Amino acid sequence: MTKLFSERLIARLAEASWVTVLTGAGVSAESGVPTFRGTDGLWSKFKPEELASMSAFLRNPELVWKWYAHRKEVIARVKPNPGHDALVRLEQLVPHFALVTQNIDNLHRRAGSRTVYELHGNIERNYCLECGAVFDNEAVLAKPGVPLCDHCGGKIRPDVVWFGEALPEEQWNYAVRAASSSEVFLSIGTSALVYPAASLPQIARRNGAMLVEINPEPTPLTTQADEFLQGQSGKILPALVGAVEDARAAHRSLTSRL
Ligand code: OAD
Repeated sequence: MTKLFSERLIARLAEASWVTVLTGAGVSAESGVPTFRGTDGLWSKFKPEELASMSAFLRNPELVWKWYAHRKEVIARVKPNPGHDALVRLEQLVPHFALVTQNIDNLHRRAGSRTVYELHGNIERNYCLECGAVFDNEAVLAKPGVPLCDHCGGKIRPDVVWFGEALPEEQWNYAVRAASSSEVFLSIGTSALVYPAASLPQIARRNGAMLVEINPEPTPLTTQADEFLQGQSGKILPALVGAVEDARAAHRSLTSRL
């Protein structure tokens, strides 16, 4: 049988004490959440400036809420896929591990990942524009039209990063620290086009990390990657993590016999 992964990759992952993973919409594609770019992507059918920006919300909050209420319902129905599950197992293998995600669908946490930095927010949270009070989806979806705050009557918005908005500072700082510390950095299911998230693999590489990309299509990152694993993350990740588990177990049994 031909080997799926290079010995160098499995050895680096099996020995690493610091691994950081960056995920994008492609990781959730096999769960049934549409990606943004590409021929079937959300941004080929909808205009982000009409749905995902503060000016759109101020101009037409009803339309923006209709769109987010729909997305919340779609996302509530989907389940983590074998790619999400494999990343939970990888976290259990590596002493220091961070999962940085651009996804707002909460599927990594629902799968069981623990150290998750959310760069673009989380569609299961909402907050009042006026007083900052936080609401879960159950509370906002029970309200008709544009949900208003129970405390001050202000408009509630989804806790997701819109176009033109800054990333949550604390999450970003953690992500940069993780990228700078990593021995191996995996960029999975992202078009690597949206900054500043797309700078994380470059930060990791400058600091000496081995850079691994998993994607069915090449991206602007591919030529910089030490390893490009071409294919779907829901297929590649379970096989990759299984190989690392085997290598770690073999190493343990060897050292216990010495
Ligand atoms: P994109 O839609 O830009 O890219 C999705 C990537 O996933 C593409 O490179 C696909 O080739 C790849 N892909 C598709 N199916 C896959 C699979 N089964 N396994 C692995 N990869 C697969 O999504 P992102 O890079 O996440 O921002 O987009 C970044 C940001 O742009 C999003 O977070 C969002 C968007 O505008 C905000 O909403 C702020």
